[in-house]
Amino acid sequence: MQDLRDKYIAAIAAATDENALEELRVQAVGKKGEVSLKMRELGKMTPEERQVAGPALNALKDEINSALAGKKSALADAALDERLRTEWLDVTLPSRGRPAGTIHPISQVTEEVSAIFADMGFSVAEGPQIETDWYNFDALNIPSHHPARAEMDTFYTHRAEGDNRPPHVLRTHTSPVQIRSMEAQGAPIRIICPGRVYRADYDQTHTPMFNQVEGLAIDRDISMANLKWVLEQFFSAFFGKDVKTRFRASHFPFTEPSAEVDIQCSWQDGTVKVGEGDDWLEVLGSGMVHPKVLAAANIDPNEYQGFAFGIGIDRIAMLKYGIPDLRAFFDSDLRWLRHYGFSSLDQPTLHGGLSR
Ligand code: PHE
Repeated sequence: MQDLRDKYIAAIAAATDENALEELRVQAVGKKGEVSLKMRELGKMTPEERQVAGPALNALKDEINSALAGKKSALADAALDERLRTEWLDVTLPSRGRPAGTIHPISQVTEEVSAIFADMGFSVAEGPQIETDWYNFDALNIPSHHPARAEMDTFYTHRAEGDNRPPHVLRTHTSPVQIRSMEAQGAPIRIICPGRVYRADYDQTHTPMFNQVEGLAIDRDISMANLKWVLEQFFSAFFGKDVKTRFRASHFPFTEPSAEVDIQCSWQDGTVKVGEGDDWLEVLGSGMVHPKVLAAANIDPNEYQGFAFGIGIDRIAMLKYGIPDLRAFFDSDLRWLRHYGFSSLDQPTLHGGLSR
């Protein structure tokens, strides 16, 4: 018994991990362990022998068990000490730099445009980018046979075979938001609606997805003169100088009369400059809202009239920030975004002059 004791107490003291301890436990006091086997022999002993051997074996078993428990917690303490020694961090070190993204010029210009029109009493409205045939065309006095439908290079969504309803479209302009806003709000109304629009077109000044801002002002005594004044106010605030504009008589099914507006610019050495040179860039379409359009939106054309316009946001962003190719706006080239992007702290305001 003394040999057993010495052997296990020494082995437990020398164990270096929990697995070794568990093996020792099984060998000594497990079901078939050496101490357990000795206990089974008690049955064969005389009562006198048993009275001596029984308590001694129990005491040995207890001693081994408590040596195992003591060693186990000593090993756990040592493991914790080791972790505390090796796993530390210096909370006084400076943190890793986080590269800040930039505000895309389109977002910035949308904010600038909104700030200028807000100052003139326009509020901001929005509408869906996937639009019904009715809102994108019919309500705007473009019936289904009208050539303007073909001219717009519309993206149509797919209808199931046998479903003859007109397909939804990716809106080709922000004008459907005019109808939705007049329906919801009635007259008088003064809104702008910035957002994405879609047409199948691709070159230096056209991309299949681009951005417009619609403007709409309806009241009892609004004229073309108000339209001209509002646009001129807008351009001089936006560009921070008087800009030469060219109003050209034009035609849109939803306005009568209609005018397109170009801005004077030059294209030189890979930059476009506004207010100089002898090129013109078309930046908007406009006119007096057609009586049929008012009627389609439940507004009485005998009582109300007003103007509408649709500005190409990307176009005026190109002009203001000297960006010669529209396609670059949507290439997600990080070098371009860092160069032309804005700091998030650069909030456009009228009193801040709107520019960087
Ligand atoms: N919706 C026209 C376009 O996208 C622009 C426009 C808007 C013209 C409002 C007149 C009035 O070309």
